[in-house]
Amino acid sequence: MRQFPAFFNLSGQRVVIVGSGEEALRKLRLFVSAGALPVIISDHTGPAHEHEAASKAISMTMDDLPAALETARLAIVAEDNPDAIAAIRSARVPLNVVDRPELCDFTVPSILDRGDLVAAIGSNGTAPVLAKSIRTKLEALLPARVGDLAALAGRLRETVKAALPDFSARRKFWERTLTGRAAELAYAGDLTGAEAAMRAELAAPSEEGVVHIVGAGPGDPELLTLKALRLIQEADVVYYDRLVSDGILSLIRRDADRISVGKAKGNHSVPQDQIHELLIASAREGKRVVRLKGGDPFIFGRGGEELDAVEAAGISAFVVPGISSALGCAASAGIPLTHRDHAQAVTFVTGHAKAGGVPDLDWASLAKRGQTVSVYMGVGTSAAIAEKLIEAGRAPQTPVAVIENGTRENEVRAYGMLEELPQLIEAHGIKGPALLIIGEVAGLRAGPVAASVSIEASIPTQKVVSA
Ligand SMILES: C[S@@+](CC[C@H](N)C(=O)[O-])C[C@H]1O[C@@H](n2cnc3c(N)ncnc32)[C@H](O)[C@@H]1O
Repeated sequence: MRQFPAFFNLSGQRVVIVGSGEEALRKLRLFVSAGALPVIISDHTGPAHEHEAASKAISMTMDDLPAALETARLAIVAEDNPDAIAAIRSARVPLNVVDRPELCDFTVPSILDRGDLVAAIGSNGTAPVLAKSIRTKLEALLPARVGDLAALAGRLRETVKAALPDFSARRKFWERTLTGRAAELAYAGDLTGAEAAMRAELAAPSEEGVVHIVGAGPGDPELLTLKALRLIQEADVVYYDRLVSDGILSLIRRDADRISVGKAKGNHSVPQDQIHELLIASAREGKRVVRLKGGDPFIFGRGGEELDAVEAAGISAFVVPGISSALGCAASAGIPLTHRDHAQAVTFVTGHAKAGGVPDLDWASLAKRGQTVSVYMGVGTSAAIAEKLIEAGRAPQTPVAVIENGTRENEVRAYGMLEELPQLIEAHGIKGPALLIIGEVAGLRAGPVAASVSIEASIPTQKVVSA
């Protein structure tokens, strides 16, 4: 470390900025956000500069610089101005010269500002762009409301100190509340609930953890939500399904337990009740538990049952949505599920009944034109699905798309017509997980395939594998 990082309290303090360009304005905004009272020194200002500077700072000319420096705590020179540099040096005011680290007494870091929580990334002035890119990565990881949580902790600080005079008890309290239920409530915008949770914890400390039921999306790790990523990285234990991709599992902390409760269709390797018990037992051990499920946990994912079971056991539970595979597959293949000219509705259905076979769906309604039907778990029952829809009146030539392993490296897309659906699946060796998209929109990307009439000819011989 070549420079000592410190946070200055500039509230109500004078700071001097010399310059009239965009860089001077950027520094002005920074100082204003820290509550400082900036003085802008410039002999030549443009209209945009004048407008912003007038509303946020006192504007002066170079002649006024010595007077302004008398009360200044810091000064920044944001233009080529050796006279200003000399004057600031002789007034012994700490100086920063933009883009000239060799002339600086201090450098301005890349700042991540979340209210009371601030992170500053510096590079001794050597690589500001690198510092900025690290800040951007941190920004993606930190919850948007982390500053609210920090402010709440600040408000309760004295109360907690009085209630827990012992330092290690206090630290334990903060560790539990700032990573547990209170924190999640604050991140969700419920500050009243967060404060109540902290006060309850203070009155009667609980060793209990929390359960997050998290949607992992269809497979591509970049389709995780920021919240899902944060929770995966914070978790002490992750219970995951078969459909969660390796790329996503690799994001789990190395010292966390990762436990497969993988369910393949018709092959529930860990029975649902047992999954509930595992979640509850881990939370009772005080762990941060993530139940990671493919797609969205509440779309054909039994997430609702898990939430009920965990809450019935008195454990705090939170749900994080994920991109459901119908949305991921359609986007990946460029198929709009609704379209002003072709589909005014989209319906998600399962192709797999609880007791096995085809479910008892309202086929007459699904067969109507002008809508898209997205079928989950429909590979094994595709022949019956096509038959039922055609019987109920959907045109045999209705375009279909079958997307296997959507958004993953091994994605396969097959296009054809409803009457040839099972052959299409077989011809492409599709075993699943795959999504069936039935409706006119499926033909928008299919090119000549959808226009063909002969079943044999319409089955593409080549798999469309995404890059
Ligand atoms: C038990 S359901 C879970 C659905 C999940 N909760 C969701 O929102 O996508 C499993 C079915 O989702 C579909 N599926 C999940 N991931 C998929 C993917 N990457 N590509 C295609 N279909 C997928 C398949 O139809 C699979 O049989």
